[in-house]
Amino acid sequence: MSETWTVLKVLQWTTGYLQQAGVENGRLDGELLLAAALGLDRVGLYLNYDRPMAPAELEGFREFVKRRARREPLQYILGTTEFWSLPFRVSPDVLIPRADTEILVEEALKRAGGTSTILDVGTGSGAIAVAMAHELPESQVVAVDCSPQALAVARDNAVLNGVDGRISFQEGDLFDLKSAEYDLILSNPPYIPAADIPALMPEVRDHEPRSALVGGDDGLEAYRALARQAPALLKARGWLLVEVGIGQAEEVAALLKAAALTDISVRADYAGIPRVVGGQKP
Ligand SMILES: C[S@@+](CC[C@H](N)C(=O)[O-])C[C@H]1O[C@@H](n2cnc3c(N)ncnc32)[C@H](O)[C@@H]1O
Repeated sequence: MSETWTVLKVLQWTTGYLQQAGVENGRLDGELLLAAALGLDRVGLYLNYDRPMAPAELEGFREFVKRRARREPLQYILGTTEFWSLPFRVSPDVLIPRADTEILVEEALKRAGGTSTILDVGTGSGAIAVAMAHELPESQVVAVDCSPQALAVARDNAVLNGVDGRISFQEGDLFDLKSAEYDLILSNPPYIPAADIPALMPEVRDHEPRSALVGGDDGLEAYRALARQAPALLKARGWLLVEVGIGQAEEVAALLKAAALTDISVRADYAGIPRVVGGQKP
């Protein structure tokens, strides 16, 4: 008699398999992948634990599990994630938006007026641009990235969240930004020193776009470029706010100060790590 693979039995097997492959949250990822394969939410999954899985369902799910065991991020397999409690489509063309980046949005909202003009440099999935446009219905946002593939994803996310009419997506280079005048310049640029890449988790190192990660030899290249250009791109009293990596806040604050920005501020994330550095044009 052939063995019956119930939902629960498949989940238990998957949890062990993913854990062996080094996946941190094998059980949770197994649940989310299984729910997606069956077209259920997690509660629906629990309610169906005893149900036998059909061969076609098992086939589709096996593909998901193989990809996750190769350490492909869960979000790329599912094709979606959440940022700022909004839905975002993600593909391997874009960095998966991180919860830490919500701190940048929080700080930006504290400084924004209703009708702010905002520049998001290195928009990726459009996370920051879309969240700002969503929170500030009168604002205008310009979202720049060097990757046309990322811009296509960002555009989809603007449509998905109903803010596409207020974001202009532009292909451009953060080292040579087009002249304009903004109330806020926001950026979560690539900031990992090139030599640190080999030690990253496989999910990041082997799957996220390299151009979204590497910030030159010391990780600070993008900040130098942003600090250099910010004074010419900001209106008086306008702000440059950037997300920084662990241990970079002090040096980035010094770069902003050297660019004659004032009121230099550093905000920590919820783990206490200095995460967002800001400076104002006098
Ligand atoms: C760390 S990701 C941030 C993505 C998104 N803003 C977020 O916070 O999730 C950095 C982004 O900068 C873009 N980028 C890298 N080098 C660039 C350059 N020279 N000019 C413009 N964009 C660049 C990458 O394509 C990537 O989308």
